[in-house]
Amino acid sequence: MTIGQTAKFPASSMPDGDWWKLLWPNPEGVLRRLGIDFGVTVLDLCCGDGHFTTPLAHIVGGMGRVMALDLDAEMIELAKRRAQRAGVNPGAIRWLESDACKLQGVLPAQPEYVLMANTFHGVPDKPQLSREVFNVLKPGGQFAIVNWHFRPREDTTVMGEPRGPETRMRMTPEQVMDEVLPAGFRLHGVIELPPYHYGIVFDKPKAS
Ligand SMILES: C[S@@+](CC[C@H](N)C(=O)[O-])C[C@H]1O[C@@H](n2cnc3c(N)ncnc32)[C@H](O)[C@@H]1O
Repeated sequence: MTIGQTAKFPASSMPDGDWWKLLWPNPEGVLRRLGIDFGVTVLDLCCGDGHFTTPLAHIVGGMGRVMALDLDAEMIELAKRRAQRAGVNPGAIRWLESDACKLQGVLPAQPEYVLMANTFHGVPDKPQLSREVFNVLKPGGQFAIVNWHFRPREDTTVMGEPRGPETRMRMTPEQVMDEVLPAGFRLHGVIELPPYHYGIVFDKPKAS
């Protein structure tokens, strides 16, 4: 889908809810393992239907802020409804229908943490996206990417079907580092997110 000068990343459609919920039964636990905590200002970059957005709002609580950005208005609407159903305070999440590649001047607050889940593999210009995130992130903040492991697609089954991006689009953590580190980030750590994912967390140095 192309909207004006912006375009959706390839292989970035929101998966069908049934198997996604089965694969990620405890999104809040995943976010805590990635180091997201009470009081943080977080950007859920490419939030999709909000599988991680509502748990983010629960974790950061009233002292934190959540911004959720997606290019697709339909996804934002689904994510909003999910948050409402979960009883999230309507003002707790700022919804942004926008392009992940152009963040400057778009965000209502400076994020201390940027999460990009299940989307980075499809970004055509990964160094540019990394620079964009670096520029909006607060010094001392973190950028986390959640990716499918570099395994053959036929081996990553859920409900009896191969799932996730095509094998050729998958990345090792080392390949992600090669794309992200030149923006100025430092590696914080790599976290296993079984059965098929890893999270890779980068720091923006305080003095940058
Ligand atoms: C596979 S979904 C992942 C959603 C969510 N992060 C998750 O893990 O459940 C990828 C999302 O990226 C969004 N997207 C694709 N290209 C984008 C762009 N250029 N800017 C912002 N969002 C984009 C899609 O609309 C889709 O909702």
